[in-house]
Amino acid sequence: MGAAGRLGDSAARDYTLKLRQFHAFAAPELRQLLAELPLTPGMRVLDVGCGTGETLALLRERVGAAGLVVGLDLAAAHVRAAALTQGAHAAVLQADATHVPLGAGTLDLVFSLNTVHHLPDPLAALRHWCTLLRPGGWLALAQSSLLPDMLFAWDERLERRVTEAVRAYYRARYGQSERDLTAVRGLVGLLRGLPLQALQVRSLLIERTSPLAAADEAYLLETQFRGTWGARLRPYLAADDYAALERLCDPSGPDYALRRPDFHLLQSLTLARARLPQRTSQKQ
Ligand SMILES: C[S@@+](CC[C@H](N)C(=O)[O-])C[C@H]1O[C@@H](n2cnc3c(N)ncnc32)[C@H](O)[C@@H]1O
Repeated sequence: MGAAGRLGDSAARDYTLKLRQFHAFAAPELRQLLAELPLTPGMRVLDVGCGTGETLALLRERVGAAGLVVGLDLAAAHVRAAALTQGAHAAVLQADATHVPLGAGTLDLVFSLNTVHHLPDPLAALRHWCTLLRPGGWLALAQSSLLPDMLFAWDERLERRVTEAVRAYYRARYGQSERDLTAVRGLVGLLRGLPLQALQVRSLLIERTSPLAAADEAYLLETQFRGTWGARLRPYLAADDYAALERLCDPSGPDYALRRPDFHLLQSLTLARARLPQRTSQKQ
């Protein structure tokens, strides 16, 4: 269970705060997206890579007390956080996504948000998840930022340079190629590679303007500006570009992006789903 994933995930990894901040930021749109899942009271659902467990609560609302929601994650800290978030309302298991300890054919829906691109062999994992579904059961994959985010209405040249710097950083950190890092764009192709039918895909936008709610500013400042950007991008940017980025990210400076009147954020959220065929009648 200790093996690192494509993006360095392991049982010991802990990015609880980052996940919590994302969910505090994106909660309204995630609720809207999950309302599209084909769930009814009494259904049995698995959330693979459930992280800190916020989506478990949304799934639970849809299947009610008669249903079952199980969360699964590799990281011990995330499992602990999810169990705390959920109390007695969902079971949370620590396991690898490619070896789910649940019976074949027992689930109505397998859901996964922002996780498939962390797995070394996403198609093999999805094949395994399909074995857990009853005939007619659904596989539903959600992903943020398939479109490049517009974090604020800034100079497009600098935005491009920063995006490139982030990719260069991740390529170096995880030994990944550009193709590996952008494989997440192939959600529809992954589902088409499985014996599934009735594929549907839908995207919505998270959109914010200033003044920002405290949770939105916390997510953007801590997770994006300081976590994804910050000093680690210095080696990958020209000195004047790095200085310009620092000015935009400095809450005490006059150029701070998040409190400017022209602040405008756009981030996509996508849900792709498809189902196993219903059981065909037995031949005589
Ligand atoms: C980007 S996070 C998304 C978490 C959550 N679904 C959300 O959107 O907030 C990816 C999650 O997948 C988990 N993960 C990565 N590789 C895994 C694996 N092989 N098996 C199970 N979980 C894994 C990580 O621990 C992490 O919690």
